Amino acid sequence: MKEITFNHRKSSVIGMGTWRIGEGDLLKSQREMEIIRYGLNHGVNVIDTAEMYGDGKSEALIGKAIKGFDRDKFQIISKFYPNHATPKLIKQSLENSLKRLQTDYLDSYLLHWRGNTPLAETVQGLEEVKKEGLIKSWGVSNFNLADLKELAEVPDGQNCQINEDLYNLTSRGVEYSILPYQKEHQMYFVGYSPFGSDKNEFLSLKDDVGQVAAQKHISIFELLLAWVIRNNNVLSIPKTSDIAHFQSNLHATEIEFSKDELELLDKIYPKPTKETTLDII
Ligand SMILES: NC(=O)c1ccc[n+]([C@@H]2O[C@H](COP(=O)([O-])OP(=O)(O)OC[C@H]3O[C@@H](n4cnc5c(N)ncnc54)[C@H](OP(=O)(O)O)[C@@H]3O)[C@@H](O)[C@H]2O)c1
Repeated sequence: MKEITFNHRKSSVIGMGTWRIGEGDLLKSQREMEIIRYGLNHGVNVIDTAEMYGDGKSEALIGKAIKGFDRDKFQIISKFYPNHATPKLIKQSLENSLKRLQTDYLDSYLLHWRGNTPLAETVQGLEEVKKEGLIKSWGVSNFNLADLKELAEVPDGQNCQINEDLYNLTSRGVEYSILPYQKEHQMYFVGYSPFGSDKNEFLSLKDDVGQVAAQKHISIFELLLAWVIRNNNVLSIPKTSDIAHFQSNLHATEIEFSKDELELLDKIYPKPTKETTLDII
């Protein structure tokens, strides 16, 4: 599996998305736990979750799934609601997440999206729990360039390690300024929803994409995932609860594109040429 440096550690180039897991019956949850274990056993060593997902059910399922695995060998990212972004509520949310996840620390803790709490207050709260050893790093999600620049101006704002935004073949907005800015400021980028989210509802692909995939003898899903991680500067976090899909996603991490293929895909879904409002799911 292709590896990248993520959150200052060697990491798989894909992580495990976990939105909408832990919300079904016993058998569904059992399958979802097996997927997480399968992933950890096959070198996928980042798990992305949030207190929002199933109102804690995703974290609770992950907590059960990771039992018996060496906690030092994989990273867990979780996120807190914007209305929990004060120092007091960050601590409370974090303690609840840690309890559900049955772990002593998070590898990173992200503000899920921007709310009304001043960024300086949120950063202060995050720095406090970092000092206590409850998180290794902190970051943000769904931030645009203006948000990131504002964040960098508040005390300790430059300690932000991660920004997680939507990124897939049809939503390329982050390529214009977010990816270059994060590279310049050594901030890791997590790209969510490589397949357009649950049941691919936010992805309506042009037929030409299917032709490129067919010529490469790969599935369209493999093309989508391999494309997102093509430059080793993105940790993509596909979600799947299906073992065959997981295997296909693992296969995608080995796929490379020729210059011609990339140019063809650029013609179908052009790179952004100006700052645009970022897509959000
Ligand atoms: N920070 C944020 O605001 C934010 C927002 C959205 C998502 N996220 C994170 O990003 C993760 C991924 O995004 P997402 O869950 O929205 O959607 P996604 O990963 O883009 O797509 C998931 C959908 O694709 C299907 N799928 C996965 N692999 C497949 C394959 N190889 N072949 C066919 N179908 C496949 C899944 O079905 P099966 O389960 O049946 O495979 C599911 O319906 C989330 O789980 C969450 O952790 C973060």
